[in-house]
Amino acid sequence: MDIRIHEIGSYVVRNYLLETPRGIIAIDTGYPGDCDRFVRRFEKVAPLSALTYIFITHHHDDHAGFLADLLARCDAKVVLHPLAIEPLSRGESLDYPDGGYSSVPASWFGKFKSDFTFPKVNLGDKAVIVGQETDQVFERLGLPIRILFLPGHTADSIGLFLTETGQLFCGDAAMNAIISVAKHTIWIDDADAFGQSWDAMLATRPTRIYPSHGGSFSPKALVRHRHYMKGRKLIQLDKKSK
Ligand SMILES: [Fe+2]
Repeated sequence: MDIRIHEIGSYVVRNYLLETPRGIIAIDTGYPGDCDRFVRRFEKVAPLSALTYIFITHHHDDHAGFLADLLARCDAKVVLHPLAIEPLSRGESLDYPDGGYSSVPASWFGKFKSDFTFPKVNLGDKAVIVGQETDQVFERLGLPIRILFLPGHTADSIGLFLTETGQLFCGDAAMNAIISVAKHTIWIDDADAFGQSWDAMLATRPTRIYPSHGGSFSPKALVRHRHYMKGRKLIQLDKKSK
């Protein structure tokens, strides 16, 4: 099946669109206030009415920041993990007490960012909740797109795997931004779960990894850096960050 991929985000947060015979699936939104720019760029691909699903990889402010605005402007359903619903309704990234930064450069991020709030999201009947991996809502529509559970960065982290091409959209289950070391996401709630999610990604035999931050990369990098956290501790500052 021909699924065209578009990227309409910014240097900081990528916004991938999957153009399918069942409409367009948008992977995440972005920071609060960026909805106009998103819609402008979306409409260069298709009218906003073509947006049928918004797939939320997790609830953080840089992924759900303009979800409320976008839902007010379209009829798309929101596909998400059940644990995302409560923080979305409060408009706040969860503060996970055992989490921390994966490296010293990553910890610099927490020194300048302290606001993780965003407009509250009332999903109403737009929520399509994916409670377990057997809830393959896109495969049920006949699309070759599998939802993967990828906890570790957060408990509600999920990704999308295109089964025919091997392209894997991992959200923040890995990161390729300039500030991330060894493809590790700068903030990790649970390092053991994070590593196990890399194993789960590699088990799908992906051809390419598409993180939400930074460009796509070869899965060989996941193999190379899989045990980066071994013998290291997550770095905790007084001020927690995502
Ligand atoms: Fe995140």
